[in-house]
Amino acid sequence: MHIEPAVSLVGHIAVPGDKSISHRAVLIGAIAEGDTHVTGFGRGGDTQASIDAVRSLGVGVEDLADDELVVHGGELRSGAADCANAGTLMRLLTGLVAGREGRFDLTGDESLSARPMERIAGPLRQMGARIGTTDGHAPLVIEGTALHGIDYELPVASAQVKSAVLLAGLTAEGATTVVEPVPTRDHTELMLEAAGARITRRPMSVSLERSQLKLGEVEVPGDFSSAAPLLVAAALVPGSDLTVHGVGLNPRRTGLLDVLERMGARIVVFNRRRAGREPVGDLQVQYAELSASELDAAEVPLLVDELPLVALLAAHAHGVTEVRGAAELRVKESDRIAAVTDLLRATGAHIRSRDDGWTITGVPTRLRGGRVDARGDHRIAMLGAVVGVASREGVDIEGAETVAISFPGFYDLLGSVVRR
Ligand code: S3P
Repeated sequence: MHIEPAVSLVGHIAVPGDKSISHRAVLIGAIAEGDTHVTGFGRGGDTQASIDAVRSLGVGVEDLADDELVVHGGELRSGAADCANAGTLMRLLTGLVAGREGRFDLTGDESLSARPMERIAGPLRQMGARIGTTDGHAPLVIEGTALHGIDYELPVASAQVKSAVLLAGLTAEGATTVVEPVPTRDHTELMLEAAGARITRRPMSVSLERSQLKLGEVEVPGDFSSAAPLLVAAALVPGSDLTVHGVGLNPRRTGLLDVLERMGARIVVFNRRRAGREPVGDLQVQYAELSASELDAAEVPLLVDELPLVALLAAHAHGVTEVRGAAELRVKESDRIAAVTDLLRATGAHIRSRDDGWTITGVPTRLRGGRVDARGDHRIAMLGAVVGVASREGVDIEGAETVAISFPGFYDLLGSVVRR
């Protein structure tokens, strides 16, 4: 796919529903009592895999529209489920079934099968779970069995691990407590609260007791992580003025807004409201000159999926930006530290990688552009497209179609706001 440089990005748009919340609506809906009606569902490769997985395990899901469905809650039964590219699905589903009757065989694609699974298998085994991994990776075999609650301190700041333990806690004897080193996204906690779970939240930890759930309605807000590439493109291209409506603004997801503000970007949040327990609003971004910033481990979980875009912002900013404490990026859909370094270098940026981040020397002018490889990673493909619109010569993306994992209409929506 060839992405041409843009003169500016102008317009009013909305993005598909949040991927994290959509996964949770299907998975929690699958074990909740009665029907769960989901609106604003963000359909992409990953969330479709969640629907297909619960269907393979005997739960009915009725598609009412691309962004609307009903999950007929019931029992997850023995079977095999393909988690495709979706780490969230594999990790949350493992926790969800660990204490339920049956044998569950979970597989994933090549990328997912290379990602670490002991980080969930370990704490779940402490709860009594019977989980077999393949050298610490998928395929996973889970033999459902009785669980007991544990106190678990997360060794890595991961919402997926936290969620796997909490979802297992739904069937465990006694209380399950998860302590976080730094706050991570709390969509699981918010949805469990809405579903009537016996859950107690403290600033750095959460406890849960065995609970019966009933969700009823879930309204999914627009995905901040899908709005992010468009907002960043508008922040980088002179003359731009872009508004994205109805975006989820959960503070544990919007670290990018803080970084943009520190760098001097012009951003306005307005029309703040709520979708269920999740905060939502409209975001307007206008072009402005940017200056370098610093970023460390405490902030990383609040913008973990937006760090590739932060590197791009830094490449355009006055001064040197250091990103540290982001080693988790090495175990995402691709090694994103390496992928971002190679992509930005290939298009003319000055970036050096470290084990846990980058040093980026910004030059406040358009990057040259060039050929890049998405490495089968949706967020890297979207980064390539943003580089393309903000570049002098455009970008050719190898494997561009991988955006469909989270955002099938991405290129069309980008094209609709680009002026050439
Ligand atoms: C997610 C949590 C994050 C994030 C991923 C989605 C979730 O992963 O990178 O895209 O839905 O819980 P970790 O919690 O493992 O960092």
